[in-house]
Amino acid sequence: MTDRPDGLPWHHNAVVYEVYLRSFADGNGDGIGDLAGLRSRLPYLRDLGVDALWLTPWYVSPMADGGYDVADYRDIDPLFGTLADAEELIRAVHDVGLKIVIDIVPNHCSDQHPWFTAAVAAGPGRPERAKFWFRPGRGENGDLPPNDWGSMFGGPAWTRVTEPDGAAGQWYLHLYAREQPDLNWDNPEVRAEFESILRFWLDRDVDGFRIDVADFLVKDPQLPDVAGHAARTTQPWEDQDGLHDIYRAWRKLVDSYPRDAVLIGEIWLKPLTRLRPFLLGDQLHTAFNFDFMGLPWNAGRFRQTIDTTLTSIGAAAPWVLSNHDVTRHLTRYGRAGTGSEWQPDPGTPDLTLGTRRARAALLLSLALPGSSYLYQGEELGLWEVEDIPDELIADPIFERTDHFIRGRDGCRVPLPWQAAAAGFGFGPAGAKPPWLPQPEAWRELAADSQAGDPDSILELYRSALRLRKTRSLLGADSLTWLDAADGVLAFARPDGFGCAVNLSARTVPLPPHEEILLASGPLAEGLLPPDTAAWLRLAG
Ligand code: NOJ
Ligand code: CA
Repeated sequence: MTDRPDGLPWHHNAVVYEVYLRSFADGNGDGIGDLAGLRSRLPYLRDLGVDALWLTPWYVSPMADGGYDVADYRDIDPLFGTLADAEELIRAVHDVGLKIVIDIVPNHCSDQHPWFTAAVAAGPGRPERAKFWFRPGRGENGDLPPNDWGSMFGGPAWTRVTEPDGAAGQWYLHLYAREQPDLNWDNPEVRAEFESILRFWLDRDVDGFRIDVADFLVKDPQLPDVAGHAARTTQPWEDQDGLHDIYRAWRKLVDSYPRDAVLIGEIWLKPLTRLRPFLLGDQLHTAFNFDFMGLPWNAGRFRQTIDTTLTSIGAAAPWVLSNHDVTRHLTRYGRAGTGSEWQPDPGTPDLTLGTRRARAALLLSLALPGSSYLYQGEELGLWEVEDIPDELIADPIFERTDHFIRGRDGCRVPLPWQAAAAGFGFGPAGAKPPWLPQPEAWRELAADSQAGDPDSILELYRSALRLRKTRSLLGADSLTWLDAADGVLAFARPDGFGCAVNLSARTVPLPPHEEILLASGPLAEGLLPPDTAAWLRLAG
């Protein structure tokens, strides 16, 4: 089944909008985004012109990590709504002509998941423990962790439990927060359970799954220490051969449904070529292109990554500029020098510069072959909020690093919808304030103040997405680089479509063209100013 005249599946060139549920829109007025809020804003998403939504986890969760600690994979957290609301939402999303991809979190569950509470209660050596990674500690009294692995969020990757008899007992592995015990994928019950969960949601008509830390599920069963193995290219918790069987089984399962559902892996392996074994046709459909997301504002680096992506992965690796885990790209591009990777650099960003570059980056990424993932709020020109008061920070990274890393809340601040309303209309009239405070300066970025203003970033997104749909530039995957000055990217796509992006500090001539279709900022006559991009109908 395909929605495309060329026979390619829908996700091959889809524009997918990431909804970070707790920060998108609040329907019931408790200050936290929810399904009712999202539902009420579906017309906005339809009019924006995206093709699909990806929703971050909506499952029952103690919310130790924004819902990536799941206690029940078959029900919705009451903060967000009910299972019936989710079913309604899936229908409503389809009714407005969009697809819906949900997040699946298979590497770990919540420490409140019945499997884990049963495992702790059962005691050492019991089969309940075999669904996780329980091990005795090292040292005389077993009071040292079983190995030297660290949690991705800081601190050790092991926590010790108290056994049913009250004694200090075994340790369990958690590559993230201690509330997120890693599941043992060598255990057949774990595999069977997740296949059943996938079916549960496919039966409810979701259009795919974004697979959380898709490359971590299988561990080297020896759980070897990592110290002293700096030269090792593969860590014992990542990219293990056994992953491929899991995804082959998932692909078969998904393909047995008529919906053309997609499996998208969250895989941070570097270099990008390491994604290839997952994307050979019998496993994942696609995986995020995080190399692209981390690029500094540098034409050579962009060109190199675009080439590597297209030659090694093909257009199947979607273009991503931001997501709910990294500093918003507007802020990254607004920092001095050539820009920065996603660990925030020191220094105050130049938000005007960042905005200009973010506008140009949009036209770049939407002109490339393949699909594109947008993160909520980037269409409003939101920046990273870097002054959230300590006591309001919810990201577990902050606590786990003894307040050294402030974490990811700065890109998760609730969206501003209405300039004149309390909480910028995040919730209904009379609602509690949004769960994180919004900067006052976001008033002018509220969706309703930008709508209809041709110079606004929101209208740029709308125009670009509209144009992208009407051009058949997406039919083929070909891209031809055009001659361009240093610091400038210029390329042709099928049907005479061209894109030029000036990442240099000088104004440069536009490639020969018959028509300017869209520009990210004002153009001088036939010229492309710094930090500006244009879509063109190329000459001849
Ligand atoms: C990746 C998710 O995007 C992130 O938000 C989460 O903290 C980790 N995986 C752990 O589930
Ligand atoms: Ca709410």
